[in-house]
Amino acid sequence: MGTLSRNSTARSPSYLFPSVIALASLSLTALIIYKVDDFVSQTKTVAGHNLDPTPWHPFPPKTFPEETRQSRAYKIIQCSYLTCGHSSIRSTGTSTSKRVSSELSRDSLHCPEFFRWIHRDLEPWARTRISRTHIAESKNYAAFRAVISSGRLYVDLYYACVQSRAMFTIWGLLQLLKRYPGMVPDVDLMFDCMDKPSVNRTEHADMPLPLFRYCTTQEHFDIPFPDWSFWGWPEINIRPWDDEFRDIKNGSQTKSWLKKGPLAYWKGNPDVGSPIRTELLQCNDSRLWKAQIMRQDWLEEGKMGFQQSKLSNQCNHRYKIYAEGFAWSVSLKYIISCGSLPLIITPQYEDFFSRGLIPLKNYWPVSSTDICQSIKFAVEWGNTNPHKAMGIGKAGQALMENMNMDRVYDYMFHLISEYSKLQDFKPVPPPSALEMCDESLLCLADSKQKQFLRESAAFPSSASPCTLQPADSNLMENLIQQKRKTIKDVNDMQKPKQKNSSNNANK
Ligand SMILES: *[C@@H]1O[C@H](CO)[C@@H](O)[C@H](O)[C@H]1NC(C)=O
Ligand SMILES: *[C@@H]1O[C@H](CO)[C@@H](O)[C@H](O)[C@H]1NC(C)=O
Ligand SMILES: *[C@@H]1O[C@H](CO)[C@@H](O)[C@H](O)[C@H]1NC(C)=O
Ligand SMILES: *[C@@H]1O[C@H](CO)[C@@H](O)[C@H](O)[C@H]1NC(C)=O
Repeated sequence: MGTLSRNSTARSPSYLFPSVIALASLSLTALIIYKVDDFVSQTKTVAGHNLDPTPWHPFPPKTFPEETRQSRAYKIIQCSYLTCGHSSIRSTGTSTSKRVSSELSRDSLHCPEFFRWIHRDLEPWARTRISRTHIAESKNYAAFRAVISSGRLYVDLYYACVQSRAMFTIWGLLQLLKRYPGMVPDVDLMFDCMDKPSVNRTEHADMPLPLFRYCTTQEHFDIPFPDWSFWGWPEINIRPWDDEFRDIKNGSQTKSWLKKGPLAYWKGNPDVGSPIRTELLQCNDSRLWKAQIMRQDWLEEGKMGFQQSKLSNQCNHRYKIYAEGFAWSVSLKYIISCGSLPLIITPQYEDFFSRGLIPLKNYWPVSSTDICQSIKFAVEWGNTNPHKAMGIGKAGQALMENMNMDRVYDYMFHLISEYSKLQDFKPVPPPSALEMCDESLLCLADSKQKQFLRESAAFPSSASPCTLQPADSNLMENLIQQKRKTIKDVNDMQKPKQKNSSNNANK
């Protein structure tokens, strides 16, 4: 060996030189590949690359089967680092924004009543305000952090979210920035995209943490924000909200209200760990309980091309039941859109608009403790008072029609604006955050996701956001008490009957 190498060294250096170069470039390439690999494996994406599922709600890790390692690496780098900042929309953004915001119409309309909840949701920080410490503490509960700075969105991803929730939620924020260019203030917020609220009011009484998510309860500080389905839910073929509403309303008109089936109808997935849905299965008896409860098998539906699950074909009954799932359910808005009388089983979880529903005005409250009896009572009441029942159903549908995407963006706008007023610091994107833009999300989306994202793209608004009501905690307190009382009155109304028919049912 030694001799051989001495021999080779002794050989003409001109012969050796190219091999040294070759070797060097080979190792350089290897080093680059290694470094790139390393870099790629540290780059987290809204599609879920290099992210673990949330520890507080585990789910199977995401797989990206159809790609080779190189094409994935190329895609991650391309989508994460090479798309935003080059867009022409972006560079003209500021000039457009000035033009648009100065041309916005002056006399904007009043926001729907449920916008009042924005003040109540943010009340815990009205006195203390929101500090960097709040943000740092909220991080323990967050799947990502979103920072808006000078009209640009930066996101720091901590955990993966199930399906395409992260992608569609972040898309929603980007569309808000496009809809109201130059108007959305700088903001720094923590977001969890999983189902259940986590900031317990008792446990966090000393230091309420601001955490955005899709729902809350009266026992939590979590701040509800419109969920991903407003921009679409590709996995189960639910289109962006405005399109879906239009289809449902049209479908609901195939039969006049009085010609619809005089039964209460529910179709969904009962296997989501929801005690209410499990109990609801017991009510599947059109004679005894006046209810029809149908099981939705999403896997099977997917194979069949979602023909049986079209929401617009599910408005053929006078009564539609809402039963919350593992937490709130995105189905609420579709159910109310039918114009049937919504029978809402009194929920524990609330989303941003459901708190604004008013019993006997736009829905019928069903007791969560005696579900079948309570459904039967509602159906019998409605069949005896069809015009009243129809009136409530139509009022619910009108409420959903009024809650179109324009208003959803307005809600986001006002919530974010009010929240930003509470910050006692200037939001700065953390070094680990990546800028997000339409192109970077589209770059990561599969073909179906792309279709839904494009369909739900927003354009600069020619109107100002609706006018937010001022905070009025007495009024809110009265509304809440009134709602409780109406629900109790309806429960009391069915009590005597309940006793007798449940005796019959036990026979
Ligand atoms: C909130 O925390 C308290 C105290 O730990 C507990 O008793 C209560 O059940 C919790 N509430 C919810 C809704 O989890
Ligand atoms: C409305 O529904 C009817 C069937 O009920 C259908 O034939 C029609 O194409 C629908 N229109 C739209 C615009 O979807
Ligand atoms: C409810 O009853 C109907 C008719 O008897 C049946 O077709 C349906 O499968 C039942 N639903 C469930 C969830 O078992
Ligand atoms: C229950 O039924 C019994 C007869 O079966 C009747 O006497 C009684 O008044 C009923 N109670 C109520 C509260 O309707």
